[in-house]
Formats: sequence, C-alpha cells, structure tokens
Amino acid sequence: MSTATAPVTTTVTSTLLDFHDVEMTFPDGTVALRGVHLTVDRGEFVSVVGPSGCGKSTLLRIASGLEHASDGTAQVDASRIGYVFQDATLLPWRSVRDNVELLAELGGRSKEERRAKADRAIELVGLTGFEKHLPKQLSGGMRMRTSLARSLTLDPELFLFDEPFGALDEITRERLNDELLRLFVEQRFAGLFITHSVSEAVYLSTKVVVMSGRPGTVVRSFDVPFPMTRDMPRDPDIRFTPEFAELVGEVSRALREGHR
Ligand SMILES: Nc1ncnc2c1ncn2[C@@H]1O[C@H](COP(=O)(O)OP(=O)(O)OP(=O)(O)O)[C@@H](O)[C@H]1O
Ligand SMILES: [Mg+2]
Repeated sequence: MSTATAPVTTTVTSTLLDFHDVEMTFPDGTVALRGVHLTVDRGEFVSVVGPSGCGKSTLLRIASGLEHASDGTAQVDASRIGYVFQDATLLPWRSVRDNVELLAELGGRSKEERRAKADRAIELVGLTGFEKHLPKQLSGGMRMRTSLARSLTLDPELFLFDEPFGALDEITRERLNDELLRLFVEQRFAGLFITHSVSEAVYLSTKVVVMSGRPGTVVRSFDVPFPMTRDMPRDPDIRFTPEFAELVGEVSRALREGHR
C-alpha cells in the first residue's frame, strides 16, 4: 500500500447516524428491534448482517425516516439521504435517464439541472450510452446501477442500502461491490449496508455489525482493518488472503452464536 495516498476516513469524526437503545414494536405487538445501539460516522461504511426477520429493513426504514422508533432515540444528522432497495424499483415506462432524473424532478430542480445531474450519475455508474434504454432492456446489474444513479443525484451524505445486490449472480455482485467502493471513496458518503453475505460485508466495509435474531439487537461489531484509499478503494485480491478469510470466519461465528 502506498503511504502517499490520502486515507478515506478523516480525523474529525462527525456522527451522521446515532441510534441509542432503539426499540421498534409494531401495532400488532411484533417486537422487531430492542436495545439497538448503532452509530455511523462520516467516512464510515457500516454493514449489517443478521438472520432473516431480525429487523434489518426496519432499522433502515427508521434511519430513512419512513418509520419511527417506538422507543429510544434514533438521530440522523444528514440532510441528504440516499436509499437503495433490494429491488431496483424503476418505473418500467421511463427510460434510464428519466428514471435517474426522477428524484431531482420530485425535488423541483430545473430541466437543465436535472439532466446534468442525471448524466453525471449515469457516468459514475458506468451506464453512459444506455440513457434511452427502458428497464426491461437492461440486465439485473444494470437495473441496480440505474437505481444507484437515481440516488446519487441527491448527493447523499448518508447512503442506505437494503440488500441491493442480493438477487445478482456472484460475478455481477463482485463487480458492483468494486464500483460501490469506488463511489464511496470518490463521493464521500457514509454508508449503512444490509446484506446476507458476510464476505460482501467484510469486503465493502470499514465496520461490520452483527445482529441477533428477532427482536434484533447488535451483538457484535468488527472493525475491518483492510486499507482503503482514494486511489485504491480496496484491493480485490484481499478476498483471497488468510486475514480476510479469518475475519469472515469470526463474523460468521458471531452470526451463528447470535442466532441461538
Ligand atoms: N409493518 C409491520 N407490522 C408488523 N410486523 C412487521 C412489520 N414490518 C415488519 N414486521 C416484522 O418485523 C420483523 C422484522 O422485519 P424486517 O423486514 O425488518 O426483517 P429483516 O431483517 O429485514 O428480514 P429479511 O432479512 O428477511 O429481509 C419481522 O418479523 C416482520 O414480520
Ligand atoms: Mg429485509
């Protein structure tokens, strides 16, 4: 690793998301979350792994403001929040460009501004040349890129991801992981990323958080020591190192133990 490159994280930490003792009980009495403590600082990319139904999507919905915690404090100090769902949620009758422009359009931006933002975002996700395509003419990976681009037009300070690559094949997922890492270091948003894949979590993140089964709570938190710099987001080959395998093993063990 070159020491001349600037690190992604800055020494001035500022907390964008601060969950303290968060509980979520739905009106039907389902307790989805209990005693959740979680922070996401500027410069951090935090992944959350946990068993199905443990409240991960609920956590993200609270972070986005779509849902309100029933107890505890869920503080989010980000003025612009991006949200990418598992499903690309594109409008089928709109082209790639028109889908990407959607959020800027809802935000009341002028036509020129929308177009410029959309084209830049389309370029960032590598879809230049596909602006006029309809969603049905795209592969699953391209649809997900379109969805990413749509949120990028918001210049998010905090980016929330709910298993965005879960439905993709492994090669496409790995490629999108690398593109996401590049966007993370270039665009400097903080990330909160839900995934079922422990290796994806470790590869992408500066911190991995493990949740227990429902009611979900944070049982372990792991700092990921692998370097990430502006010039080299993360070396894809770290996936094949013993250190990487060891951390994946530790996280998987914590996940299994939290499951019991
Ligand atoms: N609106 C709701 N009303 C009642 N219960 C709900 C509601 N939304 C979610 N739940 C329940 O809360 C729990 C957590 O759901 P959530 O979708 O957050 O889980 P998850 O960890 O994202 O699961 P998965 O990994 O399968 O996506 C589940 O038991 C679910 O049935
Ligand atoms: Mg979910």
